[in-house]
Amino acid sequence: MSYLTLGIETSCDETAAAVLEDDRRIRSSVIASQDTVHAPYGGVVPELASRRHVEAVWPVVQEALTKAGVSLAELDGIAATSGPGLIGSLLVGLCFGKALAFARHIPLVGVNHLEGHLYAALLDHEELSFPFTGLVTSGGHTHLYLATAPGVYRLLGRTRDDAAGEAFDKVAKFLGLGYPGGPVIEEWARKGDPNAVRFPRPMREQDSCDFSFSGLKTAVVNYAKGLGFRVQGSSSSSLQPSAFSLQPVLDPTLIADICAGFQEAVVDVLVRVSLAATKASASRRLVLAGGVACNGRLRSKLTERAAEEGVQIYYPRPSLCTDNGAMIAAAGYPRLLRGERALLALNADADLALGVT
Ligand code: KG4
Ligand code: ZN
Repeated sequence: MSYLTLGIETSCDETAAAVLEDDRRIRSSVIASQDTVHAPYGGVVPELASRRHVEAVWPVVQEALTKAGVSLAELDGIAATSGPGLIGSLLVGLCFGKALAFARHIPLVGVNHLEGHLYAALLDHEELSFPFTGLVTSGGHTHLYLATAPGVYRLLGRTRDDAAGEAFDKVAKFLGLGYPGGPVIEEWARKGDPNAVRFPRPMREQDSCDFSFSGLKTAVVNYAKGLGFRVQGSSSSSLQPSAFSLQPVLDPTLIADICAGFQEAVVDVLVRVSLAATKASASRRLVLAGGVACNGRLRSKLTERAAEEGVQIYYPRPSLCTDNGAMIAAAGYPRLLRGERALLALNADADLALGVT
């Protein structure tokens, strides 16, 4: 008898649901992106995100059930993201999951979004086993974990300021390139020379697994300003659409070189710190997850460097790197199977931590 888990994810700006059969067979995965809602602002506007989740959550869940050919009565469990993330967004998916669980008498667990990102790699790699080192790098997080066993995690390091994806988004917004910044910058960087402009590689102290990307972002902004790029409009409110964008009259070669130089600096830091942490942990397995893990340059450089260091890398396919319901179902499944049940009093937690530090 197979076990069917409905995964619900609404921690940021994607309304997502998936039906997972047992531990890794994705029967359906539906994602309603809000990119067009937030694009004019160059970043996620929390209030708009939660309103959109309210509209989208039931149709997205229905579509996931239909595509999987599964009725509500056939579900064995529900896993809903309970944190970390935007509180208004989290509440929508979690309350929806709780209501469904209560009304249909279906077991429910709350899932940590970051654990979900790590499970995306387990979904795609049957051969991957614990322990492993896991780098979750997204718009909201850049966290490095030692995953010892299912549910047992130790935080090795994290960003002290901006997440890597946030730096991509902010630099793209500053250069007036669009949102989300990661894919746009990667596209521009392909046409540029990564060595034309050398930006700083912000590294913490020796042996530290922490990251810092805010100084790098400022270095890029200052470099662009130094070339005479002008910021349009005011920078005082994120509710001003395109408040930060520069006049799109820049020399395309320069933009491409800036993007390539910036991307190279981010990639360098992520590769160096995560490989050093993996070698120190002796697990020799490194999982790369989260939206920034879609980045082609990061994947190729990490693959190349890992081969030299004897480290095995596991990437989920790009559609499982960005937020999705399948990874939430995958992280919830072992806990549902063990008989874990969330109380209806379970609350969303914007700062929910994963594991011990
Ligand atoms: O995991 P995710 O979908 O949402 C969060 O949990 O934040 O990640 C979204 C982030 C955004 O900051 C986006 O710019 C970044 O991932 N991203 C990328 C790429 N694709 C998405 N960053 C660099 N290169 C990419 N190709
Ligand atoms: Zn995420």
